[in-house]
This record gives sequence, C-alpha cells and structure tokens, in this order.
Amino acid sequence: MKNLIVANWKLNPTTQKEAKSLFEKIKKGVSRIKNAEVIICPPFVYLPLFKGLTLGAQNCFFGEKGAFTGEISASILKDLKIEYVIIGHSERREYFGETDEVVNKKIKKVLQTGLKVIFCIGETAEERDAGKKTEVLERQLREGLKGITKEEIKKIVVAYEPVWAIGTGNNCSVDETMSSVLFIRKVISTIYNRGIADNTRILYGGSVKSDNSGSYIKNAGANGLLVGGASLNAEEFNKIVKSAE
Ligand code: 13P
Repeated sequence: MKNLIVANWKLNPTTQKEAKSLFEKIKKGVSRIKNAEVIICPPFVYLPLFKGLTLGAQNCFFGEKGAFTGEISASILKDLKIEYVIIGHSERREYFGETDEVVNKKIKKVLQTGLKVIFCIGETAEERDAGKKTEVLERQLREGLKGITKEEIKKIVVAYEPVWAIGTGNNCSVDETMSSVLFIRKVISTIYNRGIADNTRILYGGSVKSDNSGSYIKNAGANGLLVGGASLNAEEFNKIVKSAE
C-alpha cells in the first residue's frame, strides 16, 4: 500500500498563472517519486488545466443534473478524468452547513459515479476538551458510511483532520494521532471486518509541514497526509512527499 499525499489547495491561488506555475513545480518535484502517490486538489476551475498528476476535487453535489444553480456533479468530474473527491471537509461542515447525512449522500453519489472518495472526519477543540473525541469520530464514520458496501469502502480513503489542528500551526502529536488512527480502524472493523479495516488508508491532516510530516507515516500509523497551507509552496510540499516515500 503506497502512502498517499493529498494537496488540498482550498480557495487558492487567485490566478490561473499562479495555479499553473504551482502545479508545474510540484509535478517536476515529484516526478522521481516511486513509493508515494500524489493527488492535487485545486479549485474546480483549474482542474481541466492540469495534466500529468492524479487530480481530485474538493467537493461535489449529490445530485446528477438539472436545476441546481452553482453546483458541480460527480459526472462532470468523471468526464474530466478526475479520480478523487474530498467529501466532508470540516470547512464544508462548518461554513456550508454539511451534515453527516449530506456527507453520506455525497459519498454515495461519488462512488456510484465511479470516482474515489477522500472522506474527512475530525473533532473540534470543544468536542476534544469535553472528552467527546471518539464519540464524534465514531458518529461521523457510522453516519458517513451508512449504506456503503464492503466493495465500496475499498474506494474510500479516510482523512483524520482534527479541526483544532487545521491552519493553526498546532499539529496533532504523533501519539494522539496514533490513538485516533487506531480508533478509526477499530470502528471500520466493527462496521465491516478486520481485513477491510487493515486495508483502508487513513491519512492525517492538520498543520502538516516538512519537519513533522515523516513522523505521521513512520510513527503514527498513518498511510498518508492531507496537506493544506503547505501544499501552496511547491518546495515545501515536495519535501513532504519525499518524507512519505
Ligand atoms: P492545513 O495543512 O493548512 O492545516 O490544512 C489542513 C487541511 O484542512 C487539509 O484538508
């Protein structure tokens, strides 16, 4: 199982010129990487501009087509040869009101369309302080995966992103990440079985930088990383990819 390094550019950069330049620098930097898989998730409009690396979208709608102004379907993404879609990112949950139910509908639609899912879960600072971390992770997993079959779960990568660690510089410790990753595997094994749990890739995300990235893979049992801010700097991102080889 190769480690997976996902760049989530979020709402960046502002111009096509910057986007193309960043993509080309990353592409060049990771061209010799053999033992890690790299996925770039730019804003929708940049997706058709890029060739040569695996691409993912940051979101999509659960409907197929029709009168849904402003939405993008999984089928549109499939037509563009996009392989992955990030679903359930905490910023979608927080700013765009996405509930576990919406996340579940989106996951189903993406899978039915033949794309793969990067399914984000993670507790907020308040939930963690209240001792509710595992309860929240279990609920997000069970609700998000409701009705997803043993075959379908193979097309899902789970990303553990503690909300308090996102964009704060306060990355989750290796020990705490390891216990969350183990807990997530345990829940998946309860829903499906041990074999499926062992084969599900679980990523860590939240203030990942090149000086902490390697330890999540080597010591926390993560199968890759979901990188936000640091993926907007090609040199830094390429170092992160190298640390995951
Ligand atoms: P940062 O790496 O900027 O903390 O963002 C993490 C994230 O949300 C990736 O999806």
